[in-house]
Order: sequence, then structure tokens, then C-alpha cells
Amino acid sequence: MTFHGYHHITSIVTSAREDMRFHAGVLGLRNVKRTVLLDGDRPFYHLYYGNEYGEPGTLLTSFAFGPDRPEGRRGSGQVSSISLSVPRGSLNFWLDRLNSHGLPATRFELLGDQRIRFAHPDGIEHQLVEVDVDDRLPWTGADVPAAAAIRGVHSVTVCTREVDELDMFLHEGMGLRSRDADGAVKAYTMARGSAGQVVEVDHQPDIPQGTWGYMRNTIDHVAFDVREADAQLQFKDRLETMGFIDVTEPRDRNYFYSVYFRTPAGAMFEATRSHPQGFLKDETLDSLGSCLQLPSWLEEKQDELLAELARTQPLD
Ligand SMILES: [Fe+2]
Repeated sequence: MTFHGYHHITSIVTSAREDMRFHAGVLGLRNVKRTVLLDGDRPFYHLYYGNEYGEPGTLLTSFAFGPDRPEGRRGSGQVSSISLSVPRGSLNFWLDRLNSHGLPATRFELLGDQRIRFAHPDGIEHQLVEVDVDDRLPWTGADVPAAAAIRGVHSVTVCTREVDELDMFLHEGMGLRSRDADGAVKAYTMARGSAGQVVEVDHQPDIPQGTWGYMRNTIDHVAFDVREADAQLQFKDRLETMGFIDVTEPRDRNYFYSVYFRTPAGAMFEATRSHPQGFLKDETLDSLGSCLQLPSWLEEKQDELLAELARTQPLD
């Protein structure tokens, strides 16, 4: 099995400040890094949230594009929902908490799991899924009790009009196994099949095509955790041998190395290998997320970038 679980999930949002309030203030995740999007010629915040260390599988990240960039249209060929794992018995706590923060939340059952559906302030669907066992350590520095705190990513949902080629890609390309189905949603699993090892595919034959590219208020991509450099390159080779050639070379993302690959459904996935020091390469554990960090190749532009970010996306 190439993949050990999720690494991170990246959304494109409008307001950095609202995004921070949602992830840190409502969900109770730790802001483990403030940096900038490494592509393009204008600086945008790239904010990372997770557990104390920002371990793979606990990470949600956001590009904050501000209100002037085009808004994406949700639809087929996108990741449509981010599901997070919470302990059994905590859903009532979360219903009250989300509603008290002005985020309407509804309870439902899917694939045998008790869940809550709600949305990021920019409309991106999220779910909380109750699980019995999840050994990932939550961040407990927020005002969410440990008995309810989010353990990490449970799964994502890929929405697609066409499932046959995606089904083959998930099985033969990514090595996932079919698990079960519930209505239009089918679950696939990585090795252990527990929380953080599940990919859900929502078959919606009549839904319009969603937008791709860097557009606001959509989920941009999903990264899976690959621990060895060899495994990352072997996976790239395997996809290309199968004829799936929309696969990048490994890219240095400062805290990890990323190979991006386009799924047949259209959703962008990433095979990601962490830098050995992870987020501790430029900050101490206590100070993670406290101020803007830049990769070495942007450090000489720090003053200029900070001034631009303060003007366009004030965060504090
Ligand atoms: Fe990524």
C-alpha cells in the first residue's frame, strides 16, 4: 500500500480572518503554520491547521484569495465534502457548538456512521463523523474538551458524473479497496480502513461540471501521505504506465514534497512526503503558527510580502 492515510486537504477560501475563526475558533484546531501560496506572482496566505504537531492526516489547509478573485462553481469532478473524525458521543456537543457560532448543522446517517453536515463560512461542505476508535492525538489547546476534539481527517467525498474509470483508478492506480455503498455514495479504503483511511465517491450522473483551477470557495485538492521517496516515484511511474500522464514531478513545498495527479473524475489529488522536520523546520513547537514563515527563496521579499498581505488580507 502506497498510502498511509491522508496528508492534508486544501480549500480555497475568501477571507483569511474568517478562515482562521472557523478552523481555530470553531473547530478547535491548531493553526500550525502561516505561510504563502508558493505559486503565482501575488502573495496569498496559506494557512495550516491540525493537531499539536500538525501531523499528516490531521491537516486542513487554506489558500485565502480575498473577495476579488473569481468564485468557483461546485459540481462534478471535485472534492465536494471534507469529513473529520470525532469521538463517539460528541455529536450533540458539536451540534450545539456549531449552531451557537451561527453555522447551521444537521444530523444524518451515511454508510452506517452517525454524522453532522455543516459548512465553512464560504459554503464548503464539511462533516463530522463519530468513530469508536481513532488513536490520533487531538489538539487540546482550544476550548473544545478532549472527549469531543477532532482527531483528524476521516474521509473526503469525490463528486462525479462518471464512476467507472475512477473506480478502476482508485483500485488499480491507488491500490484502494472497495468497502460498502449507501445510495449514491460508495466507500473505498486504504490498508486499515479506519478513520482517515476512507475515500467516498458520490455518483451524481446529472450534476453539472464543477470548475477547476484556483477558484474561491471550493476544495482545491486532497493530499495522501507517502512516507518514502521511492514509493512516491514508484507511484508516479505506475500511474504513467497505466496511461494517466497528468502527474507532476515531485515539487518542494518547503514542509513536504508533492506529486500532483489528476484523477479521471477531475479532482486533483497529491501524493505527499513530509520533510523530516515537518513544521518544526522553521518554528519551535510552542510558537507554531505565530507569525508568517517563508521558504528560503522568498525571504529576501519578506517585507514586501508582509506589506501586501497586511493591505489585502489583514489577519490579526
Ligand atoms: Fe497540497
